[in-house]
Amino acid sequence: MNKVGIIGAGAMGSGIAQVAATAHCQVLVYDTSAEALKSNQAKLAQILEKLVAKGRLNSEKASQIQANISYTAQLEDFAHCELVIEAIIENLPIKKKVFETLESIVSKDCIIASNTSSLSITSLAAALQKPARFVGIHFFNPAPLMKLVEIIPALQTHTATVETVRQTINHWDKLTVLAKDTPGFIVNKVARPFYSEALRLYEEGIADIATIDWAMTALGGFRMGPFTLMDFIGHDVNYVVTETVFKEFYYDPRYKPSFAQKRLVEAGYLGHKAGRGFYHYQENVAPPLPRQDEVLGQQIVERIVLMLINEAADTVHQQIASKADIDTAMTQGVNYPKGLLQWADEIGIAACVSQLDNLYEIYHEDRYRCSPLLRKMAQQGTTFFQPKPMAIDD
Ligand SMILES: NC(=O)c1ccc[n+]([C@@H]2O[C@H](COP(=O)([O-])OP(=O)(O)OC[C@H]3O[C@@H](n4cnc5c(N)ncnc54)[C@H](O)[C@@H]3O)[C@@H](O)[C@H]2O)c1
Repeated sequence: MNKVGIIGAGAMGSGIAQVAATAHCQVLVYDTSAEALKSNQAKLAQILEKLVAKGRLNSEKASQIQANISYTAQLEDFAHCELVIEAIIENLPIKKKVFETLESIVSKDCIIASNTSSLSITSLAAALQKPARFVGIHFFNPAPLMKLVEIIPALQTHTATVETVRQTINHWDKLTVLAKDTPGFIVNKVARPFYSEALRLYEEGIADIATIDWAMTALGGFRMGPFTLMDFIGHDVNYVVTETVFKEFYYDPRYKPSFAQKRLVEAGYLGHKAGRGFYHYQENVAPPLPRQDEVLGQQIVERIVLMLINEAADTVHQQIASKADIDTAMTQGVNYPKGLLQWADEIGIAACVSQLDNLYEIYHEDRYRCSPLLRKMAQQGTTFFQPKPMAIDD
């Protein structure tokens, strides 16, 4: 796959174009906005310049990457593309319209993909005359830096399409995992409790935001605490993902959004970019101090990690992805310190079940129901992965 078309020159389209061009593909970027095309080109030049200055790229390679990318305002120029990845506005009818037009331009063998975060790949594929060539290719932001890519076949996708795309994206120096076409795919589904259980602890007054963030980083080993991360992502984006997953899973209480976060969105306190979210980002405001209570901290980590494990286990149970792919997705896609299923093995499956049952006993909310897979495994005494063989001198 050497001739690649990218539709949309925004944050994701630009990043994906850079990735493909770095892997020696001839990349054509199309956008309806001339301004977006211009700024994409300028931003790429800036990024490459910085990489050269830092010694991460030589200037010859930087020029080569730039030479590999061309820009166009005519979709007709995509006629010779072998793979086209769409990364435009997250809107089903608009995306479908673009795919209909695109299919009348490209050859019958061209693979067509969407980078959508939340729309059904199957519903997008249905816009095409030949939906077997359609697939979801979900990059993470920023695409050049994030190693993980989720590959999501639609119900109509041919297995050969999936194979070709996986090989291509692996060749682009990415790590691919395979996910069933379900809301949030792997990462955006499995990660929900990282935010929602932290919000629950905060809303119930069990701990304040600084203490929860301290516990999850200092004791849990996560790179960022949930409140810092939500502020960083932006509450408009993070809240909408939660709400979408909640609605799309037919209002499963597991994914219920939080009022605390909704109010931030309503107030326009969208996080870092707005100067205020859960935290204040003005220079003269001192950040709140955590209560560094190790016992409380461990309870916070245990509860959030337990809910993450339950979600990961249910994702296996629902056959959305393989055990290995789920652990890879969470460690490589969102930099979790450990794969959640490996973590479950280490805690002990029976212990996970009993802690979840304790929470359910307190709340009597379906949100805390234990995954049937964990319960079955506890009964059978099995683990997700084989224990590592002991070294000879152990
Ligand atoms: N931003 C993220 O963190 C992220 C991560 C993974 C996936 N995604 C998905 O990637 C896609 C793009 O997101 P983004 O953040 O890059 O958006 P963006 O707003 O930065 O860019 C979208 C671009 O699409 C262009 N566009 C809009 N309608 C178009 C059309 N009909 N034809 C051609 N170009 C059109 C716009 O001019 C704009 O340049 C979305 O589907 C989103 O869900 C986003």
